[in-house]
Amino acid sequence: MRTLVIGSGGREHAIVRRLLHDPDVTEVHAAPGNAGMAADATIHQVDINRGSAVADLAARIAADLVVIGPEAPLVHGVADAVRAREIPCFGPSAQAARLEGSKAFAKEVMAAAGVPTAMAVVCDTVDQVEAALDRFGAPYVVKDDGLAAGKGVVVTRDRTIALAHAKSCGTVVIEEYLDGPEVSLFCVTDGESVVPFPPAQDFKRAHDGDAGPNTGGMGAYSPLPWLPDDFVDDVLARVVVPTIDEMRSRGTPFVGALYTGLAVTARGVRVVEFNARFGDPDIQPVFARLRSGLGGLLLAAATGRLAEHPGPHWDPAAAVSVVLAAPGYPEAPRTGDPLTGLDAAAELPGVDVLHAGTRLDSGGSIVSSGGRVLSVTALGADLDAARDAAYAGLTRISLDGGHHRTDIALAAARGEVTVPAPPDPS
Ligand code: AMP
Ligand code: GLY
Repeated sequence: MRTLVIGSGGREHAIVRRLLHDPDVTEVHAAPGNAGMAADATIHQVDINRGSAVADLAARIAADLVVIGPEAPLVHGVADAVRAREIPCFGPSAQAARLEGSKAFAKEVMAAAGVPTAMAVVCDTVDQVEAALDRFGAPYVVKDDGLAAGKGVVVTRDRTIALAHAKSCGTVVIEEYLDGPEVSLFCVTDGESVVPFPPAQDFKRAHDGDAGPNTGGMGAYSPLPWLPDDFVDDVLARVVVPTIDEMRSRGTPFVGALYTGLAVTARGVRVVEFNARFGDPDIQPVFARLRSGLGGLLLAAATGRLAEHPGPHWDPAAAVSVVLAAPGYPEAPRTGDPLTGLDAAAELPGVDVLHAGTRLDSGGSIVSSGGRVLSVTALGADLDAARDAAYAGLTRISLDGGHHRTDIALAAARGEVTVPAPPDPS
C-alpha cells in the first residue's frame, strides 16, 4: 500500500512512524512534512489547503490511501477533492469537519443527538455576551466560534478578560464551566462502524501545575489508570455513536478520526469539544502502544469496510509524550534555533523523537521552525517508567530557550487524579 500523509506536526510524524511499522505499507509519502518526517518518508511540497493540489499529488504518486492529519485542510474540503478522484482518503468531508470547524454547529449536532455537553449560548453582540457571562458566572469559558488551533478558548475568573476575549472574536460561544479531569477519546470511523482507541490525557496549559495560557497541548499519556472500566463503552453509547448516527442521518457521514474531548464531572461525562482529526500530542502516546498495522485500519475506515477489520491491538504498557516548545510559545514563538542531541535521545530504549516545528537549514542542520518543536514519546512498564524515559530523552536534547512541562502524567503516576464523586442525592 502506498500512503500519503498530509501535514507537518508531531501527529503527522507519529502517523508516518506507525505506517513505516506496518508490513502492508510499501511507501510513505508526506507533504509538506518537517525535518523528522523528511528522514522517514518521501517529502513533497504542496499547498495542503488546496484540494486540487493534494489530489494531483496523490494521483501522481498513485497513492492507495491519503491520510489528512490537521483540521485546516479538512475544513477546506481537501478530503472531498481526494475522494472525488476515487482515491481512498482518511479524513472527513468539509461538511462533516464542521464538527470541529464551528463550535456552534457542534453544539447543534450534540443537542439533536442528545449528547451531554456544557450548556452554551452563541453570541453575536456584546449585550448577549454580558448576559451569558452573568448567567453562567465564574469561571468564565469564552470560545471563538471558528478554528483557532486550540488557542481560541479563554477560561478565566476575570470578567474583564472574558469580555475582552469575546470582543476580539466575532461570533463566540459562552459556556458553563466543566469541573473534573479531561480525557481525549479517539475513534476511527467509516461513518457507520466505530473503533475506539484507548483514552489519553492531554495537558493544554503552557506551564506546570496547569498555569499559563492554553496551548495546542504540551504533553500527554495513555492509558489512564484512574478511569472506570466501563468509561469507553459509556462514552461510545452516550456520545460517539449518537453523533456518528446523527451525521450520517444528515447526509454528511463522518469518515476519519473523531476526537472527543471530555470532562469527567461529578454529574457524568460531558463533551468539551469535538475535533475532526487525531489530537496532537495526545495521539502520540496512544500510537506508541499500537501493536497492529495502522495502514489497513485507516484504509478500512476510508473505504467503508471498518466492520470487516479485525480491530487494533494495544500494548498494555504505559506511554508518555512531552513537548519541547520554542521560547515564547504560545504567544510569540522564536524560531530558527539549532537543535542538538536528537539522535542521542532516540537511542534510549523505548524512546521516540517526533518532530513538529523543525526544518533543515541551508547547511543541513535541524533548526526550530514552529512553536511546538518536537515531542519525546516513551514507553514504559508503568507511567513512572514511561515518564522517566521520556524526560531522560528530553534532557539529551538542547534548544536555546526551549521550555517543557515537568509534570506530564505526574499526578496520574502518583494516583492523584480522581473522578469527582456524584452529588449526594439526599
Ligand atoms: P476547546 O478548544 O473547546 O477544547 O477548549 C480548550 C480547552 O479549554 C479545553 O481543553 C479545556 O481545558 C478548556 N475548556 C473548554 N471548555 C471548557 C468548559 N466548558 N469548562 C472548563 N474548561 C473548558
Ligand atoms: N491536543 C489538543 C488538540 O489536538 O486539539
